[in-house]
Amino acid sequence: MVQLRNSRITGTGMYVPPKVVTNFDLEKMMDTTDEWIRQRSGVVERRQVEPGQGPSDLAFEAAKLALADAELSSEDLDLIIFSTLSPDYFFPGSGVFLQDMLGEKTVPAIDLRCQCSGFLFGLNVAQSMVATGQYNNILLVGAEVHSSAIEYATRGRDVSVLFGDGAGAVVVQGTDDSERGIIEVELHTQGEFRDLLKMEFPSMRQRPFVTTKNVEDGAIYPRMDGRHVFKHAARRMPEVVGSVLGKAQLSPDDVDLFVFHQANLRINEMVMKRLGQPMEKSFNNIDRYGNCSAASIPMCLAEARAAGRINDGDLVCMASFGAGYTWAGALLRW
Ligand code: UT7
Repeated sequence: MVQLRNSRITGTGMYVPPKVVTNFDLEKMMDTTDEWIRQRSGVVERRQVEPGQGPSDLAFEAAKLALADAELSSEDLDLIIFSTLSPDYFFPGSGVFLQDMLGEKTVPAIDLRCQCSGFLFGLNVAQSMVATGQYNNILLVGAEVHSSAIEYATRGRDVSVLFGDGAGAVVVQGTDDSERGIIEVELHTQGEFRDLLKMEFPSMRQRPFVTTKNVEDGAIYPRMDGRHVFKHAARRMPEVVGSVLGKAQLSPDDVDLFVFHQANLRINEMVMKRLGQPMEKSFNNIDRYGNCSAASIPMCLAEARAAGRINDGDLVCMASFGAGYTWAGALLRW
């Protein structure tokens, strides 16, 4: 029988730009209120880059912290996986920016575009590559600069109040320790709902690939059917958590900490309720950073570790839901 190699997260890091944008700041830009944003989403403030900064700049800071935490240097890396829906350039991907910043001349870098599930999709790719023995030291980052492409006006308020800029990084390494590591990762996609949360233009489906009408219509900004997304997220996340736990013959009661994507605190409250678990067993930072898409989960992991909420031997369960639709669950013994 082929013996597959186990992998575990050996380092975490996160970085957000210093500029804070509060709900009160948004009140001055659009028809919204602090009360509406807090009550409907749980967001109180978010971070924003200065023009000229891209997701790779944020990723670089998070990556340095994750590497230091893992006691690795960038020279030790075999692979970089960069998950983002808001890349520096249309092409090449943000992974090549990060690779250059880290000073690693020819280490391969992969960009993954799986939106808010990008971190867990990346974790599965990393886990599989370690399992086959192809790579042993993998840097996985999620980083987003949403603020450059959301509409800070009443027309875009259902989206723009929710999102923030940030980056989270982890190091995934092979391990011979059979007691610890990534136990399960399960991925799902449902493309029939691709138009319910999207940023459509620029689009290669039309010529020219962006028009003045697209700009005037605001079609260059993300569009979302919030209620539909909410309903599906609140159903799919507990479903996938149940599935990964079931495969490992474990129950929600066995989990030490739940770390979910940070799209809406009400979604996460609903997921915990459906799992029969108290909110105190979950880690959330949406109040301070908003929805940072692919960066949300690794940012939470880094903060939860720094706060002593994740310790060696803890069972950590993660889940995400986002555009595509994509959703995923993962279970690991820290
Ligand atoms: O990370 C990717 C996954 N994304 C998600 O999971 C997001 C899922 N969806 C949501 O989080 C929620 O649906 C929202 C927070 C986006 C919206 O909350 P909701 O409770 O579903 O509100 P709604 O869309 O039903 O809108 C209620 C009202 C509407 O006005 P009317 O039609 O009742 O007069 C909206 O126009 O709230 C209005 N509204 C706002 N009002 C003040 C929408 N956005 C805002 C705003 N400020 N920013």
